[in-house]
Amino acid sequence: MKALEGIKVLDFTHVQSGPTCTQILAWFGADVIKVERPGVGDATRKQLVDKPGADSLYFTMLNHNKRSIELDSKNETGKRVLTRLIEECDVLVENFAPGALDRMGFSWERIQEINPGIIMASIKGFGPGKYQDCKVYENVAQCAGGSASTTGFLDGPPLVTGAQIGDSGTGLHLCLGIVTALFQREKSGRGQRVSAAMQDGVLNLCRVKLRDQQRLEAGPLREYSQFGEGIPFDDAVPRAGNDSGGGQPGRILKCKGWETDNNAYTYFIIQAAVWEKVCDVIGEPDWKTREGFATPPERLDKLNQIFERIEQWTMTKDKFEVMDICNPLNIPVGPILSMKEIAEDEGLYATGTLVRVPHPERGEYISVGCPIKLSDSEVKVERSPLLGEHTRQILTDVLGFSGGELDDVIASGAVGEVK
Ligand code: COA
Repeated sequence: MKALEGIKVLDFTHVQSGPTCTQILAWFGADVIKVERPGVGDATRKQLVDKPGADSLYFTMLNHNKRSIELDSKNETGKRVLTRLIEECDVLVENFAPGALDRMGFSWERIQEINPGIIMASIKGFGPGKYQDCKVYENVAQCAGGSASTTGFLDGPPLVTGAQIGDSGTGLHLCLGIVTALFQREKSGRGQRVSAAMQDGVLNLCRVKLRDQQRLEAGPLREYSQFGEGIPFDDAVPRAGNDSGGGQPGRILKCKGWETDNNAYTYFIIQAAVWEKVCDVIGEPDWKTREGFATPPERLDKLNQIFERIEQWTMTKDKFEVMDICNPLNIPVGPILSMKEIAEDEGLYATGTLVRVPHPERGEYISVGCPIKLSDSEVKVERSPLLGEHTRQILTDVLGFSGGELDDVIASGAVGEVK
């Protein structure tokens, strides 16, 4: 048995944010029915195509374990089928541009009328307010949510991060909202509306930077490298390079091979508790007691000197040797792993964090499996559906169409089937 077995999800999502959410629901056992425009489908099917004619990795990696129905939701018969789907489903998830669902004739009020028990979950770029009508993609959310202004180096421009905190991050937030609403429905018997704005999701993940914004009022942020370097703060949280958000001085340092390998680096943190061990490892035992080095506040204006010395040591080891030496001493370090190294790590396949998925058009590809492991609800990653692969199955098994009625729906042109 799976945790969400018996829950039917009408998946009106596209691109990345919404599909991330519904993929997790599918992995937890929900029956996720992805509604796609006939002949077109989710735009990502044909974005960043690496194998002509096959669904892209962008699509396949975000739509595992779902079923696909091709349905024109603007056509009258299509609207009738959609109404039936809303009647049957427990959850509707969408991330259309603001107003798109209303324009189709399916406002929240109308959806509640059709099924008062339904949970309707939406992702938009912004919450209610001056930007509520904007279309938003990942990097816009990173910029508007405070991430870009606080990422990068002090002397460089704002930076976006490769982690898709706007899209996938908000999808995860929405997913939590949906399962919480399902839990509440057990007691209330009612559905409800769940909304997650991408700006809010990013800001939630940048919480520590808003903490620092307020701390600035009490004086400079002493744990930022900038402080030790004597560079004054202005009135907004600065970009902090690779400083750690928790206040423990940390840097990314070169390791053996950095001249030719872009990822021959390690993250190195000098927590107060392990300072003495760090001094021993790098060959500076007298720093343990030397004035100006012995306590964390004294070290703040010498971080450049200290990390340069540590780097002289890390450059004599490869990033894995640094880990092998430091880990037993509880000195926190992290090798900078390339995606190539991650994709080749068999340990990640053993835990299901990475999976190899067979696909009829693509052959086998690698994907990230479910990152959340439930001991009593095992996840088996199944390939993403082809466009309209389950149209007939959904019309018959879920909606109960048969005989002439089924023929009429198919003949109406409101639905499509896999070619
Ligand atoms: N049948 C008929 N029409 C359909 C359909 C179907 N099955 N599925 C979608 N459509 C229509 C929509 O009704 C809409 O039509 P309308 O504009 O005439 O009302 C149209 O297709 C396109 O929808 P839209 O959401 O505007 O797509 P877009 O490609 O222009 O914009 C986003 C994409 C992501 C920018 C936008 O959807 C958005 O801002 N979403 C919310 C934030 C978000 O999730 N962003 C991140 C995505 S990873």
